[in-house]
Amino acid sequence: MVKRSLIAVVAVLSLLFTSIGFAQDDLSGQLEIFSWWAGDEGTALEALLAIYSEQNPNVEVINATVTGGSGVNARAVLKTRMLGGNPPDSFQVHAGQELTGTWVVANRMADLTDLFTSEGWLEVFPQGVLDAITYEGGVYSVPVNIHRSNVLWYNPAKIEEWGIAVPTTIQEFLDVCPAIQANGVTPLVVGESWTVNHLWESVALAVLGADGWDALWAGELDPAGAEIVSVWETFGEVLACTNITSDAAGLSWQQAIDKVVGGEAAFNVMGDWAAGYMTTTLGLEPGVGYGYAQSFGTSGTFLWLSDSFGLPADAPNVDNTIAWLKVLGSVEGQNAFNTLKGSIPARTDAVDADPEAYNAYLQSAAADWGTSRLVSSLVHGTAANERFMGDFNQVMEIFLASGSASAAANAMAAVCAQSGACG
Ligand code: GAL
Repeated sequence: MVKRSLIAVVAVLSLLFTSIGFAQDDLSGQLEIFSWWAGDEGTALEALLAIYSEQNPNVEVINATVTGGSGVNARAVLKTRMLGGNPPDSFQVHAGQELTGTWVVANRMADLTDLFTSEGWLEVFPQGVLDAITYEGGVYSVPVNIHRSNVLWYNPAKIEEWGIAVPTTIQEFLDVCPAIQANGVTPLVVGESWTVNHLWESVALAVLGADGWDALWAGELDPAGAEIVSVWETFGEVLACTNITSDAAGLSWQQAIDKVVGGEAAFNVMGDWAAGYMTTTLGLEPGVGYGYAQSFGTSGTFLWLSDSFGLPADAPNVDNTIAWLKVLGSVEGQNAFNTLKGSIPARTDAVDADPEAYNAYLQSAAADWGTSRLVSSLVHGTAANERFMGDFNQVMEIFLASGSASAAANAMAAVCAQSGACG
């Protein structure tokens, strides 16, 4: 009896291993990955695709990218494809409301809970990140990284040459602004419109504090109230120290960073994909070729976002996609990707598996991720759904055209109500 059940167990196990073995070699056909990581943003993605192709040599990978920082163009194309019943096999989507409040709520994504269980991922991703990809008990995407939004970038040699200090508060920034301008330098460079929104979220966090920021998204802070009016007023003062009325609209985020590196601008507030760009593309050393600090007024907080990929409910190549998601969630995949991208792994055990691969900036981001107060990025999908993110552009336009803090706050309250994003 014992012998018979032992034979049965062995038979089942060998069947299992064989099928796993076959799954690797046997996959064929196509895999279409959709993202906005084109051009110099593409290197880290290509490292993931290389691992995938090595493991699955018979799958033809289609790397479908739509250029445009922060996905401004890609998301529009994705929407047309998803609504038209023509989804890619997997697409880049921010963990949080961009995923759950946009695609999961509309039943467009497959539940990945079984994959998370079989891969042991429920134990290796932080709870806050798991919460951001969970909706009504199901888990819906695989986070490949953690990026930080509230970073101030500068060129250490130039800062020394100009004899200025890196501002740690908004007031310090406003105080140093005229001295920088007197050197014929832009104090703070912004680029095309989403980068202005990006600056806004760091300024808003500085004015509101982490509790106020969280309260806004929890419906506990009036979006038309005095605190938000004050955010817009302060934002206006900060904007007066930028190139918003000159060449901003024509600059990509990389071109804005180039101005800091070249000494035409003193500072830029950008997510730490800028570290990836300066290290991987420009070949600069963190702390030497470029400096970094928490954006003024936000010290101790980590405005976070996470790039993730899921499985659309009607994706054409499900098995190939599951194999892709396994690469994304693996220690090997996360380390290959993040060391190039300027982000840190979403898995808590990946950096320790290969600490030397992470440069000084990434080490500091990893340390801060563990000790800071974590708050959700608006512009990169953690805090608010796509409806709000899209409509927020109009709020910004109203502010830029009118200069009126109360008009912007009122518009924001309307957008909050329409999108249901603010609690
Ligand atoms: C963010 C994204 C980053 C980076 C950045 C600039 O939204 O999370 O990975 O791609 O846009 O395009």
